[in-house]
Amino acid sequence: MSKRVFLIVLDSCGIGEMPDAPLFGDHDCHTLKRISGSPEFRFESMKKMGVGNIDGQDYLPAEPEPLAAVCRIAERSMGKDTTIGHWEIAGVVSPSPLPTYPNGFPREVLDEFEKATGRGVLCNLPYSGTDVIRDYGEEHIKTGKLIVYTSADSVFQIAAHEDHVPLEELYECCRKARKILCGKHAVGRVIARPFVGEPGNFTRTSNRHDFSLEPPRKTLLDALKEEGKTVYAIGKINDIFAGRGITEKVYTHGNTEGMALTLDALDRDFEGLCFTNLVDFDMLYGHRQNVDGYAAAFAEFDRWLPSFTEKMRDDDILFITADHGCDPGDSHTDHTREHIPLVVYGKSVAPVNLGTRRGFCDIAATIADYLGSGYRGEGTSFLPLVKRPDETEKALCRAAFEAMRKAYIPYSGYSVGAAALTGSGKIYSGCNIENASFTPTVCAERTAIFKAVSEGERVFKAIAVCGGKGFEVRDVFPPCGVCRQVMAEFFPKDAPVLLMTGEDTFERHTLAELLPFSFDPGYMET
Ligand code: THU
Repeated sequence: MSKRVFLIVLDSCGIGEMPDAPLFGDHDCHTLKRISGSPEFRFESMKKMGVGNIDGQDYLPAEPEPLAAVCRIAERSMGKDTTIGHWEIAGVVSPSPLPTYPNGFPREVLDEFEKATGRGVLCNLPYSGTDVIRDYGEEHIKTGKLIVYTSADSVFQIAAHEDHVPLEELYECCRKARKILCGKHAVGRVIARPFVGEPGNFTRTSNRHDFSLEPPRKTLLDALKEEGKTVYAIGKINDIFAGRGITEKVYTHGNTEGMALTLDALDRDFEGLCFTNLVDFDMLYGHRQNVDGYAAAFAEFDRWLPSFTEKMRDDDILFITADHGCDPGDSHTDHTREHIPLVVYGKSVAPVNLGTRRGFCDIAATIADYLGSGYRGEGTSFLPLVKRPDETEKALCRAAFEAMRKAYIPYSGYSVGAAALTGSGKIYSGCNIENASFTPTVCAERTAIFKAVSEGERVFKAIAVCGGKGFEVRDVFPPCGVCRQVMAEFFPKDAPVLLMTGEDTFERHTLAELLPFSFDPGYMET
């Protein structure tokens, strides 16, 4: 069966301010806590997932037997907007925020824009979209100058009357602006805002069009597409990534449709990622400071969730997260610098609480790891920490435990067993073999590995190790330094090392973790 990941972003559903929130003008912000006080709030499915167990959510009921792996994640990027948040989720950290223009765009930008378009500019201030056409529409018609305005977001918006500036020309002006707005003036979006009507009665049309900034580096989406996998974008995901790394897209008219389309996607056969953004939380309720509306939208999602999870296939994993905060009850209408929640649910995922992590990009690394993609981006995969044992891992553990019984241990009394999985899919096991003169003693790991190598095997994928006094496994028995060095010769750095804690239980580690900065064949000229 094909592996599928469903990644749903509850736009702006932050779960508590980050330590650096004051740098972003935010104090006492906590989007989820704020809406949890509303009578509209519903917390049943998300409670079962374990959202109440996440760090800092003690105002919510905890779940003793959660269904999902959960954690809280701090943003590494220096921003709190949708674009930067989603890029980080997709593996790219932004060291500086996208530029905003509270006093309008500088002359140098406008000069270039006027030269390129052959039209002058009106307004050039942060403005409401409806007010700006009321106040400047008539002058625009008379002079042919374009209405340029911005907002608290990183946007360059151009309004023009459809009868006086043909749509295609307006779009072309936007493309020219997009080219000019790069480097330090790389705004998140250039937006065409066409309108119609007579003075005093202007209305905006549905021909709005966004020209987004491309991600500055390769994202998870780019990698998956290159590798021939599906990247299905629902809602504004396509715009956020400027269409890059997407194989199929569908726009929505809000959360209800976004959820319906995501549910429908479960019926499609594909291998890869279905990436949904639910925008209403932010657009309709966060910015408009509507606590009850936000809570009701959250309740709608909470009610919908079981309909999705019950249709999931065995190889599907669902990630639910957010891109920033937008506390509807704090002192301003802007986004808030908050941690985001992460819920990871699926048959193959164990309900581990991962605490607090740093970097939304760990989501990209984990999804890539699960889908077998080579991409890691700037994050670290936590898949080894949440993946349930698969059949191969169980077989490895059984083989290690059986080998342990054959240990030759007249001197130490410690028995050790190891089982290595090779590239050909075979399992080679071994035990420790002691010696009266002590130093010739060979550890279990090396017995197993050398047996395989002497049979012609050169590629290894994983190893399980167990050991203890007598012939019992009570706790992990980690490989010695020499065995780690031998593993570094034959195993890839991210090869799982299963340290058994009992007859059929283990902790999953990696070789890189056991032997960082190792001296391996990569340093030898051959
Ligand atoms: N031993 C192993 O088999 N593997 C290791 O990596 C650590 C140590 C064995 C060697 C010896 O027979 C016994 O454990 C006590 O050191």
